[in-house]
Amino acid sequence: MSYLISELAELVGLSRTTLLYYEKQKLIASKRQANGYRIYSDKDLQILRLLKQLQAGGLTLKECQSCLEAKIDQVMLKNRLQQLDAQIVQKQKARELLEALTGLGSMRQWHILANQLAPDAHFDWLKQQGFDEKHAFYLKWLSKDMNEHDQYMADFMQVYHSLDRWGPGTKEDSLRALTLLPSMPKKVLDIGCGKGLSTTLLAEHTEANIIALDNEPTALKQLENRLIEQGFKDRVSTQCASMTELPYSPESFDLIWAEGSAYIMGVENALKQWKTLLQPQGCLVLSDLVWLTESPSQASVDFWQQEYPDMQTVAKRIEQMRLSGFEVLAHFTLSDQAWLDYYLPVNQRVNELKKTLPNSTALQDLAREVAFYKTHLGEFGYEMFVLKVC
Ligand SMILES: C[S@@+](CC[C@H](N)C(=O)[O-])C[C@H]1O[C@@H](n2cnc3c(N)ncnc32)[C@H](O)[C@@H]1O
Repeated sequence: MSYLISELAELVGLSRTTLLYYEKQKLIASKRQANGYRIYSDKDLQILRLLKQLQAGGLTLKECQSCLEAKIDQVMLKNRLQQLDAQIVQKQKARELLEALTGLGSMRQWHILANQLAPDAHFDWLKQQGFDEKHAFYLKWLSKDMNEHDQYMADFMQVYHSLDRWGPGTKEDSLRALTLLPSMPKKVLDIGCGKGLSTTLLAEHTEANIIALDNEPTALKQLENRLIEQGFKDRVSTQCASMTELPYSPESFDLIWAEGSAYIMGVENALKQWKTLLQPQGCLVLSDLVWLTESPSQASVDFWQQEYPDMQTVAKRIEQMRLSGFEVLAHFTLSDQAWLDYYLPVNQRVNELKKTLPNSTALQDLAREVAFYKTHLGEFGYEMFVLKVC
């Protein structure tokens, strides 16, 4: 069989110019007819088909040529394979992202990564997607998936509604911080009070007027009932508001108390914003999750990178506190009991709910967290900081 250039071009789906270029590169060779037309053989057709196969493997024309001449460079081919594998991983990620953005798949990994790499932009983006600040925080810290958020929070709250403590802590640890204050406070703001275990403790052990603030109305309702029962209603009130926009004038308090809550808006932000509400020499007591070792295990690093990317060592937090204009009067690590008092009830509640919510991501996350605490506590812990405005 022989072919004119136009016939060959049609058979292999290439342009005439490409075929002439290939001929110049000596990949194919025509013969001239008496009328001057180029004529190609079946061999040329097959070479072109083989060439297209090799090009489909991502090889350049030169590389294809080497292969055709049986000079296959194995190292080059292996490099090409590696590049291709990397591209496949990249494309797979792109696919997952598109799937997630169209509501067809999980957005977890994307949210986790976005929160690590660009936390502020990620947070603003969540708000643009229609999440109010409270739910943007819940999404950032808890559900980590806007497609699953509502179900996740409903399941999560089924666990937390029945618990008194919403973070690690004990009466003894809180009282220890209170005794480290230079003087007894008179006007106290308890930020992120939850159900107010610390609030009622402060009410019992001081004569201060106290405002217990949280943005979760159900927790505040339970606290109010307890305040009435315990006879503190005359000097302790609740306020449903956000810790990021506190509705008080500057220098309103001589003590701000924040157990396990500053991380929500970021410790550095909290230090800066809350300081303005403190009177000169006013105090801030806050607890925060910190690294207790300089060389944590990879498992811990991976876990906290997802759960609390801004976790710092005690020394680093102290430096930030000083730079924010606070004197660090004292600090201590919360007892192991503080963790047990928190995670044992969480675990129990998760186990109770497992039967009715067998596929709940929230329950799976909580079970995973508890298991992680049990095995890795000590590499990290909660640190209580007692600070005074300089
Ligand atoms: C880890 S819990 C600590 C609760 C309590 N201090 C304790 O130790 O049990 C954090 C608390 O912060 C509250 N919270 C979350 N976001 C908030 C916000 N933007 N403003 C005020 N409180 C918030 C939650 O409702 C929750 O009660």
